Formats: sequence, C-alpha cells, structure tokens
Amino acid sequence: MERAEILSLLSSIKEKIDAAKDMKELIEVKNSELGKKSKFMSEALESLNQLIRIAPVEEKKALGAFINEVKNDVLSHYENKERVLREEQEKASLLAEQIDISLPGENFYKGHKNPLYPIRDEIISFFTDLGYDVYSGPEIENDHYNFELLNTPKDHPARDMQDSFYIDERTLLRTHTSPVQARTMLKHPNTPVKMIAPGKTFRRDDDDLTHSHQFMQIECLVVDEGINLAHLKSTLEKFMHKIFGPKRTIKFVPSYFPFTEPSFEVNVSCAHCHGKGCNMCKGTGFIEVLGAGMVHPNVLRMCGYDEHRFSGFAFGVGVERLAMLRYGIDDIRRFYQNDVRFLKQFQEEYRK
Ligand code: PHE
Repeated sequence: MERAEILSLLSSIKEKIDAAKDMKELIEVKNSELGKKSKFMSEALESLNQLIRIAPVEEKKALGAFINEVKNDVLSHYENKERVLREEQEKASLLAEQIDISLPGENFYKGHKNPLYPIRDEIISFFTDLGYDVYSGPEIENDHYNFELLNTPKDHPARDMQDSFYIDERTLLRTHTSPVQARTMLKHPNTPVKMIAPGKTFRRDDDDLTHSHQFMQIECLVVDEGINLAHLKSTLEKFMHKIFGPKRTIKFVPSYFPFTEPSFEVNVSCAHCHGKGCNMCKGTGFIEVLGAGMVHPNVLRMCGYDEHRFSGFAFGVGVERLAMLRYGIDDIRRFYQNDVRFLKQFQEEYRK
C-alpha cells in the first residue's frame, strides 16, 4: 500500500471512531478496523513492515518513525474517544442515580450488648487495678487440666457435680475456669501469682431458671508465701462491695471442692431484705454467689510449686449469677435468648 493510501485509510478509521455513539459501537469499530484481520493491520501495517525490511539503512529510521506515528495516531485517537465515552456514560449514570439527600433516612436497628459484658469488664478492671494479671485458657480442655491437676482424679465423686460435654475420652468443653489456674502455675513454677481468668464454661445441665448449659465464670488465683484465709476474705469483701454496694455483708459457708482445702461457698446478704429473709433468698437472708477456698497442697505440688513454701487462695464466680442479683433478672436463659427487648434494658450500663 502506498503512503497516501495508508493515510486515507487512517483518516477513514478515525472518522469511524468519531462516529461511534457509545462503547458498544466503539468496540465494534475496534474489532473490525483494528483487529488482526482488518485492512489496517493486515495490509497497511504489513506493507510498511515489509518495506522497512528491504529499505536501505538510511531510510529505515524515517520509515520506522512513520510506522510508529501511524500506530500512535490511531491508538491515541481511539483512547481519547474511549475516555470521552466513558465520561459521558458516568455522567449519565450519575444523573440517573441521583438521590435526594434531603429525604429522611431509613432508621436501621442498632444492636445491644449482652449485660454480661459490662459486669465482666467491671470485674476485670477491679482486679487489674489491684495488680492482677488477666489470663485465658482454651474452652475445649483436656481432662488433665480440667480435673486431674485440680486433684479430681478419674472416678472421683466430685466429677458428678460437673458433668460435661465430652469430645473424646480425654477432651471436653471445660466445666469451669479453674483449669486456667493449673495452666498458669505450670507456666511459672514456684513464682508468686495474682491472676484472674474470665471465660465461657459448659456443663451438661438441663436448662432451667438457674441453670444454663453454657455460662460465664471468672476465676481468681493468688499464690505466694504466707497467703491465708484473711487475704481471701478481705479480697472477696472488697469485690462484693464493688459489685453490690458497701452495705452488703458476706458470709463463708463450709463447702467442698477437691482443689481447695478448706472450701467455702460465699453468700452475700440479700439485696431485697438485707439479711432478714424474704422470697428472693428463700427466707435465709443470704444468696450464694461463688465457690472459694485455699488452694489444696496437692494442686500446688502437681502444678510445680513447693507446697511447704507457698500457699494460695482461689475462687470462681458465675457472672450470670452476679448479673441476675444485681439487676433482678429472674431467668438465666434470658442471657442467651438474644431477645432485644431484654438486651435493650441495659443500654445505660455501657455508658457508665
Ligand atoms: N471451679 C469451681 C466451680 O466451678 C469454683 C471454685 C473455683 C471453687 C476456685 C474454689 C476455687 O464450681
């Protein structure tokens, strides 16, 4: 093809590009006029390429420049047109999608946190302010940590109180947060510990007003030289006053846990009758809130401590129980039913 012919082909292609009314038409032009089999590619450029191959050296450069010019010319023409069309398309769709921002919006529903969380967080900050560390442990636990290291060997009758969901013979959903005691001590043998461990726990109980197969506990463990019952009692007193206010009295009632000796249940004077006895406390004037005791020497020993040098106290508190007593919630299952009418009532708690 002659140069003049190539140039006129070029301008006819450019005209066709200009005439395209939308992207669809432009792409059609591209395919037909600039595709591999198009006249432009297969004849015009091909003839120039052939020419350059046989041209004398001094003409090669000018010829090369001409080829580039032709290619760039058509390409930039195409790209310009493409940009213009895209801009037009965008403008048109923006115009079509115009929204009236002065219209009132749709109110979307905002969820509420479960009341267990503010109370848990309050307990965590109470103890961290006193210098306690916060630990966590796995919810799927090994029998070894959940029972054995806590002085509860296989076939121990106390296992009956904490029936669990077993995954296999040695693996279960932890029945309490106490295994975190063992895990923490084993990590730093013969070293003073002051820790709490909040978390989920599970028991194979039938759900009713006061039982839920899943619940939340906070474990507390203090081990050092010379730790005694007075430390436990004053810690619990301060803790209970923090949760229930300064007017409450607490009472230790002897109990049994294999991993503490002596063991206690801690009762708090009833919020309703202040110890006189009413329906809420079944006439006793007190309500049981947690299990506690002095760490059993066997536990200390199994977890790497010299039980003659170290002593400790521990307790485990059910967070649902505290929340129920504090807010007067009558049914533990409410914490897990996700009923917004229930959850909504505790909105204020998060602002405190
Ligand atoms: N782990 C016990 C329970 O869940 C509570 C507890 C913790 C008792 C620590 C004593 C010491 O019932």
